[in-house]
Amino acid sequence: MAEIINGKEVAARVKAEVRNEVLRLKEKGIDTGLAVVIVGNDPASRVYVNSKKKACEEVGINSYEYALPEETTQDELLKLVGELNADERVDGILVQLPLPKHIDENAIINAISPQKDVDAFHPFNVGRIMIGEYNFLPCTPAGVMELIKSAGIELSGKDCVVIGRSNIVGKPMAMLLLHKNATVTICHSKTRNLKEICSKADVVVAAVGRANFVTADMVKDGAVVIDVGINRLPDGKLCGDVDFEGVKEKAGYITPVPGGVGPMTIAMLMKNTLASSKLKAGIKD
Ligand code: GUN
Repeated sequence: MAEIINGKEVAARVKAEVRNEVLRLKEKGIDTGLAVVIVGNDPASRVYVNSKKKACEEVGINSYEYALPEETTQDELLKLVGELNADERVDGILVQLPLPKHIDENAIINAISPQKDVDAFHPFNVGRIMIGEYNFLPCTPAGVMELIKSAGIELSGKDCVVIGRSNIVGKPMAMLLLHKNATVTICHSKTRNLKEICSKADVVVAAVGRANFVTADMVKDGAVVIDVGINRLPDGKLCGDVDFEGVKEKAGYITPVPGGVGPMTIAMLMKNTLASSKLKAGIKD
């Protein structure tokens, strides 16, 4: 029976640390601010944006919401990003993805100042992550690393499998595990012998976006299983990429959905926004 890694608890600790530092900055007269941009009416995006604003309130970061209609043009959004880049109140800019189809997401990401890119999606920051020299860690992979650390799991020399190769999760996840000296395999929809590869892994990170995709027969006894998926079932319930009930009987550690990686992503966003504010103010400690 696996030990359950409680993301809510770890996220609360990270947010409490951020809050202490945000208050310390306030005493020096420095305010920290996050601009959150949402375009259109995607209900899941609305839920995420509300959670991000709530977390800002909890840690004492000012949040500035820009809710734009679905028909916003790419040029209008680029103009807003330009204004936020120049806005002294704003330390971090988060443009919630996905954007409506008529907007080129890469064009928007490229327009965000790398100094305010608290998602770490800009190619400059992606490059810095590759060489292991970064100010901002990508929020979801960084959250996963924090969960692994909180459980006291050593990664050096371990076989880690990341399922999924997205720019937001899979690719940066593999890089962070590599920085901790793990041996990393990235699997994806064209991988031929997924079950065989997975079932040898000490650590499995599932980021495929398919409900209950990872089953107990794919997992080694005692493995660490981290579930990044958030899928909505036809009955409205949330579930991850891992068949939690089956896999928890076999794994050594497992993260639940909800209450695992999700709260960590938001906590790490708060941490990045604080880091940006400190960098701007020239505060190193
Ligand atoms: N959409 C889903 N996850 C994310 C994220 O981490 N950041 C942004 N900006 N959009 C997302």
